[in-house]
Amino acid sequence: MIRQFKFLVLFLFAAIYSNAREGMWIPILLDQNIEEMREMGFRLSIEDIYCDCVASMKDAIVQFGGGCTGELISSNGLLVTNYHCGYRQIQKHSSLENDYLTNGFWAMNLEEELPNPALTVSFIVHMEDVTESVMEGADTLENLQEIESIKNDNISKILYKVDVDSLQNKTIKPFFEGNQYFLIISETFKDVRLVGAPPSSIGKFGGDTDNWMWPRHTGDFSLFRIYAGKDNRPAEYSPENVPYKPRHFFPIDIGGISEGDFTMIFGFPGRTSEYLPSHALKMIIEQRNPERIAIRDIKLNILNEAMNSSSENRIKYAAKAASTSNAWKKWQGEIKGLRRLNAVEKKLEKEADFIKWVKADSIRMKKYRGILPAFDSLYPLLEKALHEYDYYTETWFRGVDAFSMYSIVSSILNSSEPLNSGEFEKEIKDHFKDITPDVDCNLFINMVKNYFENTSYDYLSKDLRNIFESKSLDKMLSNIYDRSVMIDTAFLFSIIRNNSVNRLENKIKHDNLYQLMKAVSDHYSAVVYPQYYEIQKAVDQNQQLYMTALFEMKKGERLYPDANFTLRVSYGKVEGYSPGDAVKYKYFTTLEGIIEKDNPDIYDYDVPEKLKQLYSDNEFGNYCNSDGTMPVCFTASNHTTGGNSGSPVIDADGNLVGINFDRCWEGTMSDLMFDPEKCRNIALDMRYMLFIIDKFAGAGYLLNEMTIID
Ligand code: ARG
Ligand code: GLU
Repeated sequence: MIRQFKFLVLFLFAAIYSNAREGMWIPILLDQNIEEMREMGFRLSIEDIYCDCVASMKDAIVQFGGGCTGELISSNGLLVTNYHCGYRQIQKHSSLENDYLTNGFWAMNLEEELPNPALTVSFIVHMEDVTESVMEGADTLENLQEIESIKNDNISKILYKVDVDSLQNKTIKPFFEGNQYFLIISETFKDVRLVGAPPSSIGKFGGDTDNWMWPRHTGDFSLFRIYAGKDNRPAEYSPENVPYKPRHFFPIDIGGISEGDFTMIFGFPGRTSEYLPSHALKMIIEQRNPERIAIRDIKLNILNEAMNSSSENRIKYAAKAASTSNAWKKWQGEIKGLRRLNAVEKKLEKEADFIKWVKADSIRMKKYRGILPAFDSLYPLLEKALHEYDYYTETWFRGVDAFSMYSIVSSILNSSEPLNSGEFEKEIKDHFKDITPDVDCNLFINMVKNYFENTSYDYLSKDLRNIFESKSLDKMLSNIYDRSVMIDTAFLFSIIRNNSVNRLENKIKHDNLYQLMKAVSDHYSAVVYPQYYEIQKAVDQNQQLYMTALFEMKKGERLYPDANFTLRVSYGKVEGYSPGDAVKYKYFTTLEGIIEKDNPDIYDYDVPEKLKQLYSDNEFGNYCNSDGTMPVCFTASNHTTGGNSGSPVIDADGNLVGINFDRCWEGTMSDLMFDPEKCRNIALDMRYMLFIIDKFAGAGYLLNEMTIID
């Protein structure tokens, strides 16, 4: 009976996982997945997804700007990604006269498309498993340092022999913590122009309030075009460049999606850590996330209050607030999700299995018995080091904005060039452009107090230490800030224009703000960072050995490597989910929901008049559902992470049905542990994008170069 029951449990387990949604797979190793993909509805072959010789989907996919994904949707180099991925470019082109953030931007012809000097996109040209050659001579060794150095030698030798032309890049990247290696050849295009973007009231609709959440109504897309030299190869920006002719681009299917439809995501996921031990998850749940959340709480409270009090502050602090809030919110969802999953207990069970497996064999005992005990002793040290490290980076690097003035002033002091010849004046202007003095001072006071309440300050000079023991600490800190030359732009500009470093040096000796920041920063370089670095290195080496052992233990099982910014395939289905007891979420949202959320008094929910008009006139063209409603976003069960933003959501026939842009709240822990019941990616429905371009923006001519399937 018991045996039967066990068998049944195993069988159920297998049934859930045979529709595996978990995993970010390497496109040249899809042999292990293709059968399952077909069972789930996929109708094409591996070669359609990835092939070196014939055109395949991979030729229509780019890593966009280093941190996102984009895909080609026309034979003329037209590319689509998220609005939030193109945000920096859109913002840079905006001014009071041409406020593209508020009004949107649509180039009416090629001449009107806007160049973006720092923006690049990269295609993958070739991938190859080079594990054997990298490991050669290393597999018989035991000393980790020796192994590393042999592998590095091998990597240099292999790369040296790989023939690429001057427009291509080659690299060998470790997967599975250095248990597998891939050679990757890529091509980077540097002339990428902005073609179109909706107003932020559509592209960022719902803002940070709706971020990481379902139901969602964000029109998160922007359009760019890749330009190439006359030979269709990468070229520096030039007005002579011509639209790039890709080997492949995605047709857009507007036939509509249904629950259960096969979907696939092809893109560049950034970082996941699915193979960590229980110790790490416990640390993340109990220490790392709560501490970082609490530090950002302070910053966000100050920024939100400032942004709500004036529209000038809103413009100055919008980007800072959005980036501070993004991870802050995800960490909270992550804690909840890991707790709900009993993630630590699950890992402990796996570790018990691991110990059994190690104990069953004397060679394994010799090689692997020390792994978990090493984690036992390393993690408490890592926790201590990370506490200091996180407080430092969150407070000084990402919290106190005035700290960037410390770096600028330091580089002025250390400059070997005459001051007035360099970029200093511009740097200072850029810094102060997005700052309001009283908000900045408020950030300084509150974040610094919090920092020294939670870390020690015994390395500070006696004078500085006295400040923190004073009864009127707020007043003292505010004086330090107000009296500093670092906020005195007139003084700084005169120093720069007269090239008088000496005058600055004399002033700075008695400047408490500068001295405080210098002491903290020196302490970081001398103590906080080295301590963290050493212990993290030891943990990483042990993790690498753990991965080697897991690899051996799970031989024959299908494993996927953690995300590492390389090209991956995830697949799943269009499906809703149940976020909690008694609640079931549908898999799609409609324009109806945008109208429901409309509130002109709340910035994130201020629906443009034109959109309301289109809604009440039912002017949806042929982009609506058969029941006449206008689709906006949908959820599917593809395993994704940061970096997958802008990735194509591809249907069973290789057509584009959506653009990935987020994950749902209950599934934010998927970077550490995936739950097929709750983890959903959130995508923009292509039909909403086409509707906005055509009916809202009146830029329907852009649709002429796309292939749209009804
Ligand atoms: N959560 C998404 C991602 O991780 C979207 C972020 C941009 N949107 C925002 N409201 N901050 O990148
Ligand atoms: N918004 C994320 C990004 O910018 C993608 C969502 C996720 O983390 O899954 O890459």
